[in-house]
Amino acid sequence: MRAAHKYLLLYILTTSCVVVNTFDPVTTTVVVGFGATLGRTIWNYLHESCEPRWIAFNATGLEADLNRKLFGQHIASRIILKAVNGFMSNENPKKPLVLSLHGWTGTGKNFVSQLIAENIYREGMDSSFVHVFTSELHFPHSSQIETYKIQLQQWIKGNVTNCARSMFIFDEMDKMHPGLIDSIKPYLDYYDKLDGVSYRKAIFIFLSNAGGESIIQTALDFWTSGRIREEIELRDLETVLSLSVFNNKKSGLWHTSLIDKNLVDFFVPFLPLEYRHVIQCVLSEMEARRIPPDKNVADQVARDLIYFPKSERIFAVKGCKTIESKLDYYT
Ligand SMILES: *[C@@H]1O[C@H](CO)[C@@H](O)[C@H](O)[C@H]1NC(C)=O
Ligand SMILES: *[C@@H]1O[C@H](CO)[C@@H](O)[C@H](O)[C@H]1NC(C)=O
Repeated sequence: MRAAHKYLLLYILTTSCVVVNTFDPVTTTVVVGFGATLGRTIWNYLHESCEPRWIAFNATGLEADLNRKLFGQHIASRIILKAVNGFMSNENPKKPLVLSLHGWTGTGKNFVSQLIAENIYREGMDSSFVHVFTSELHFPHSSQIETYKIQLQQWIKGNVTNCARSMFIFDEMDKMHPGLIDSIKPYLDYYDKLDGVSYRKAIFIFLSNAGGESIIQTALDFWTSGRIREEIELRDLETVLSLSVFNNKKSGLWHTSLIDKNLVDFFVPFLPLEYRHVIQCVLSEMEARRIPPDKNVADQVARDLIYFPKSERIFAVKGCKTIESKLDYYT
């Protein structure tokens, strides 16, 4: 709930208490009763619940956000829009939506998850129906894996029971214990119900660096042969992505088991970002902060980043990740 709303609610409740004190007992009861009903109505109105008032997909909003705020990701942007549109407009999906986002640091995987959340939940990432899990934060000790498994299953079950339209984001999937992934597999599958709970309206998003290097290689090959980046198509990446994901011992484990059963609906590759995309990120961040967009500042910020490969300096090592903090320093 937004702070302003909290104060409003507090104000109304306090005022009704003051009013109540000046009446006789009978009137007091009536007024208190009325106050309680009013209070509850206001509470329901202001407090997030699993209802269309709070959860409603805005397809136009998602498309606009992807076009205006996400840079250099023509493939990811297209897949995300199609996947989320299709899923959200289906009244009766056969399984939950499972997206696996791949790519190097700072290319926009977290950001895209945020855009999806913002266009489904009025409270966006602050929604009580959006859950983010990070290996290091939530499941740090591999010795406690059995406890984590049970806990995670309970969390997913509990939250989906509360609200079918729940969203679960698993950050740094590469670092997740494979056993943990196994424990959530049933929820991603084509079951009508598990223990009386249907998971079909939930959304699962996995974020990882797996395959990031082969995506970079493909982008680099295009650049070297003088082809336009926007000509890279999903099929150019699909093979390298699945090869590197399957063959990578470290990240392969969880992927293999998810791919084998076709539990992942969409693999979404994120390309490494070039100088011009960094410029766009900086200008966009300025706009968000309501600072007049300044091309010179943007140039300065972008110039001071590190690029690779060393000789050609094409892609930003950290993408747009550090822009926010850098901007404080330059403005
Ligand atoms: C959906 O998003 C568009 C573009 O951001 C916005 O103008 C519109 O008000 C939104 N619609 C709803 C119902 O929130
Ligand atoms: C929902 O998930 C959160 C973790 O994001 C957990 O703390 C909470 O207990 C879960 N709720 C239920 C009802 O299981």
